[in-house]
Amino acid sequence: MLDGKVMVTGGAGYIGSHAVLALLDAGFEVVVIDNLVTGFDWAVDGRAAFVEMAVEDPRVPGVLAEHGVRAIMHFAGSVVVPESVSDPLKYYRNNTAATRSLIESAVTAGVPHFIFSSTAATYGTPERVPISESDPTRPINPYGMSKLMTETMLRDVAAAHPINYACLRYFNVAGADPQGRSGQSTVGATHLIKIAVEAATGKRDAVSVFGTDFETRDGTGVRDYIHVSDLAEAHVAALKLLIAQPGESHILNAGYGRGFSVMEVLDAVDRVTNMTIERRLEGRRAGDPAELVADNSAILKTIDWAPKRDDLDGIVKDALAWERALAERAPAERGR
Ligand code: UFG
Repeated sequence: MLDGKVMVTGGAGYIGSHAVLALLDAGFEVVVIDNLVTGFDWAVDGRAAFVEMAVEDPRVPGVLAEHGVRAIMHFAGSVVVPESVSDPLKYYRNNTAATRSLIESAVTAGVPHFIFSSTAATYGTPERVPISESDPTRPINPYGMSKLMTETMLRDVAAAHPINYACLRYFNVAGADPQGRSGQSTVGATHLIKIAVEAATGKRDAVSVFGTDFETRDGTGVRDYIHVSDLAEAHVAALKLLIAQPGESHILNAGYGRGFSVMEVLDAVDRVTNMTIERRLEGRRAGDPAELVADNSAILKTIDWAPKRDDLDGIVKDALAWERALAERAPAERGR
């Protein structure tokens, strides 16, 4: 398989912790580095080694050597789009500059494979949906640009050094580990399904619907929601491909290729919880496109992966189960 460990940066965070589980479940050995600014050490599965460290720390090459790392999955970074608009330098530091440092550490240590968390935000406002990887990338916020700049660095570095890479452009990631081992724990969430299950568990009294006048079937925004465990397994499949075909790199949309509106998501939450969660109809959020849906034909034919959890009610059920478990945790563990 791989003659060494996989380093997972941000492995104490939401998507990273699920990737750790998928890697361990597939038989890989894992070392996590995370600075615990938004992640939680308890979110790292006990089978993985854990080092509390930032990705730009000068000691990273030492960790790579000490653990015999042969692949890096890079999840660490900042992810809140409106914050990227008000504090762009934070995003160019945490996402672009820190990743430059990590890639340099990888090249220095001779790590041959790199998988990067990219985003549908690299496309900006799409000219057409579903969106294909060859469509124009014109980010409309610093978050998307900070990720696109990293994709560009990887392309150039892979042309110059013996390293191949996969960039997975995530659509809307949601849900939680079906076995209840991890989920979205960071406080101050802004993502729709997380917010809706917080309302279902009494942490909020209503859900705001941002925009009811989009050109969509019911006027609310349409997104391609992908279960976090399917996404995590896609990373493992991408890693296997990078190992099998060392000369080749890939940029792949990670979505299911179908969209649900905000109202359809909230209907699913009502169904699953058997509640009627209050919807507050509000104006559009700045920068929200009407519809983001992946053309996922490339990922389906490139890597050995097929969605197993393409079911909106199932995604909501898993998110809700995690939210309930989180509510029972000791407050100190729940979030910072
Ligand atoms: N929404 C609401 N109410 C809320 C939260 C969201 O109506 O309380 C709506 C949004 O307006 C949007 C949809 O629900 O129509 C989804 O919004 P999210 O905030 O859950 O997700 P985004 O589509 O805005 O963001 C996602 C990723 C980002 C990525 C972006 C690409 O989470 O990381 O897609 O544009 F950058």
